[in-house]
Amino acid sequence: MPKKENRTQKSAGSAKPAAKAAPKKAAPAAKKTVTAEDKAPKKKAVSAEDKAPKKIALAKAGTMLAPVPAVVVSCGKTGVDANMLTIAWVGTVNSDPPMLSVSVRRERFSHDLIVREKAFVVNLPSRDQVRAVDWVGVKSGRDVDKWAAMKLTQDPADLVASPLIREFPINLECRVVKTVELPSHDMFIAEIVRVHVREDLVDAKGAFHPEWAGLVAYTHGTYFPVARTRLLKQGESVMKPKTAKRILNERKAKRRDARRK
Ligand SMILES: Cc1cc2nc3c(=O)[nH]c(=O)nc-3n(C[C@H](O)[C@H](O)[C@H](O)COP(=O)(O)O)c2cc1C
Repeated sequence: MPKKENRTQKSAGSAKPAAKAAPKKAAPAAKKTVTAEDKAPKKKAVSAEDKAPKKIALAKAGTMLAPVPAVVVSCGKTGVDANMLTIAWVGTVNSDPPMLSVSVRRERFSHDLIVREKAFVVNLPSRDQVRAVDWVGVKSGRDVDKWAAMKLTQDPADLVASPLIREFPINLECRVVKTVELPSHDMFIAEIVRVHVREDLVDAKGAFHPEWAGLVAYTHGTYFPVARTRLLKQGESVMKPKTAKRILNERKAKRRDARRK
C-alpha cells in the first residue's frame, strides 16, 4: 500500500489516502474551432494618432515663420545719402491699395533715413545677388559706402526720393503710411506706389512672371533658391479632373513646341 498511497497523494495533493474507487475521468473539453484569424500573428491596432509624426515643443518660442523673402531696402535720397539694408521681416499686408510692411530696428542707420523720407524701395534679389544681399545685411552705411563696395547702381525712382537698385530684377517703390512701434523694431506700413520689373520677366501677352527671376527665400539663417518647378497652381486642388487633365495636356504640348523651336 505505501506505493499506492504515495501515488494518490501526489495526484490529489491531499494528505488523505484515496478510496479504492477508480479515479473519475475528467469531462472532455469542448472542441474550439480554430479560425484563420486565430492563426494569424496578433497585430497591434494602429490608431490615426499613432501614425501622425510626433511633435516636440521647442524650449523657446521664436521667429520661426519660414520661408520668408530676404529683400534689400534702399532708403535716403538718390545720389545724396542713399543707403540700403537687408530685411527679412517683410510681408504683404493689404491688397487694395497694395501695401507691405518692413520691420526695422531703431538703431539701424537706415531707420532714420526711412523716417525722414517717409519712403523706401523694396528690391527683390535674384540668386545672382545673394552675396550682396548678405553683405549689405552685415555692414552699416555709417561705416561704408555699400553701393561702391558691392558695385550696385542707383537708379532714380519715379515717385519716391529713394533709389531703385538697377541690378535687382524687381523694385517696389513704397510710401510709408503708418509706423507701428514694436518692442524691438519699428514696423513701417507702406503703400506700393510703383512696380518696376525686368523686361524679360514679362511674356508676349504682357503677363508678369516673377518665377522666371530666380528669386531667393530665407529660412532660419540660410538663403535658398526658389525653384521654378511648380507643385500646384492656385485653384488646382478644386478643379474637376477633366479640366486638370486638359490643362496638363496643353502644358505638355506647349513644352513640346518650345523644344522643337
Ligand atoms: C538675412 C538678413 C535679414 C535681416 N533682416 C532684418 C530685418 O528684418 N530688420 C532689421 O532691422 N535688420 C535686419 N537685418 C540686419 C540689417 O540688414 C543690418 O543690421 C544692416 O547692416 C543695417 O544696415 P545700416 O546700419 O546701414 O542700416 C538683416 C540682416 C540679414 C543678413
